[in-house]
Amino acid sequence: MKFLTSISAGLALVGSALTHPVFDELMIPNAPLKRAAQALKQVTNFGANTSKTKMYIYVPSKLAASPPIIVAIHYCTGTAQGYYNGSPYAQLADQKGFIVIYPESPYSGTCWDVSSKSALSHNGGGDSNSIANMVTYALDQYKGDASKVFVTGSSSGAMMTNVMAATYPELFAAGIAYSGTAAGCFLSQSGGVDQWNNSCAQGQARGTPQVWAKMVFDMYPNYNGSRPKMQIYHGSADNTLLPNNYNETIKQWAGVFGYDYTKPDSTKANSPQSGYTTYTWGDHLVGVYARGVGHTVPIRGSDDMTFFGL
Ligand SMILES: *[C@@H]1O[C@H](CO)[C@@H](O)[C@H](O)[C@H]1NC(C)=O
Ligand SMILES: *[C@@H]1O[C@H](CO)[C@@H](O)[C@H](O)[C@H]1NC(C)=O
Ligand SMILES: *[C@@H]1O[C@H](CO)[C@@H](O)[C@H](O)[C@H]1NC(C)=O
Ligand SMILES: *[C@@H]1O[C@H](CO)[C@@H](O)[C@H](O)[C@H]1NC(C)=O
Repeated sequence: MKFLTSISAGLALVGSALTHPVFDELMIPNAPLKRAAQALKQVTNFGANTSKTKMYIYVPSKLAASPPIIVAIHYCTGTAQGYYNGSPYAQLADQKGFIVIYPESPYSGTCWDVSSKSALSHNGGGDSNSIANMVTYALDQYKGDASKVFVTGSSSGAMMTNVMAATYPELFAAGIAYSGTAAGCFLSQSGGVDQWNNSCAQGQARGTPQVWAKMVFDMYPNYNGSRPKMQIYHGSADNTLLPNNYNETIKQWAGVFGYDYTKPDSTKANSPQSGYTTYTWGDHLVGVYARGVGHTVPIRGSDDMTFFGL
């Protein structure tokens, strides 16, 4: 297939691939301090759903007049309910009146499909398409603010965050990826759906900013509108998705936005906390490299609100 060959042309795979599955290392992020006030609800009529992805939604009792929407995407072995319990977004929704969509993976092991051609294409019919349809449904149903739609996730959910930003740039104002991989890095040469990709996970898939950016552009050819600003978190002690995935993801978005990844505009040591370094490029890219932190970097709910402008 032309798409599959062109999308990965120029990527170098270095070193030898390991073969052990690593799903069991994926952990639940920070436990919330407080439970959300409302229960999570499943929505079964959100539109086309070729990949059979499930939609759950959190609607706070005090909804904003034109509510912003956050899509919060779980890790492998996770569920919508698990991410609702284990992430701070529903309690923040109680405070701020936005809606949270928690998609749920249809596959055994509940990783996301970030490997197939359909997942890596705008309106390709994969999980990314189903998640986009959930956003469109919620915007319509709750008169949401289309200029304030955000996406975030941990691990496999962070991979999907990058894929959503690449395949549906028109839908999102910002994305935050906690310990993921560059969009397209899990590409399966055989077209496999929901395939694990060891060379990417092990940090061996390396490309120039131009090659990584082309992958993003190829996922929605001829798109010329605005793109979400991105914040990329990764731990330097990540043994599941090796730390080089941070560097490749930064190269990807730097390539998309035309920044020189080697020259951030600002570098702040011990920010937002001791051992973390925050790098900022222009107004569209922030990298947070967390020294000594494994898989995954704990979610920073209040910082996320700041990045999203909520
Ligand atoms: C999507 O597929 C899931 C799993 O089969 C199902 O629970 C849900 O109702 C479907 N939703 C839509 C809108 O088709
Ligand atoms: C894993 O992804 C890379 C792109 O990052 C691709 O070149 C490689 O062929 C993929 N591996 C498999 C087994 O498909
Ligand atoms: C973007 O693409 C649309 C549709 O192809 C076109 O109408 C529009 O002029 C383009 N805008 C820019 C700034 O290139
Ligand atoms: C990846 O980025 C981090 C943070 O900027 C840096 O410390 C590290 O040396 C980089 N790794 C590689 C392989 O370039």
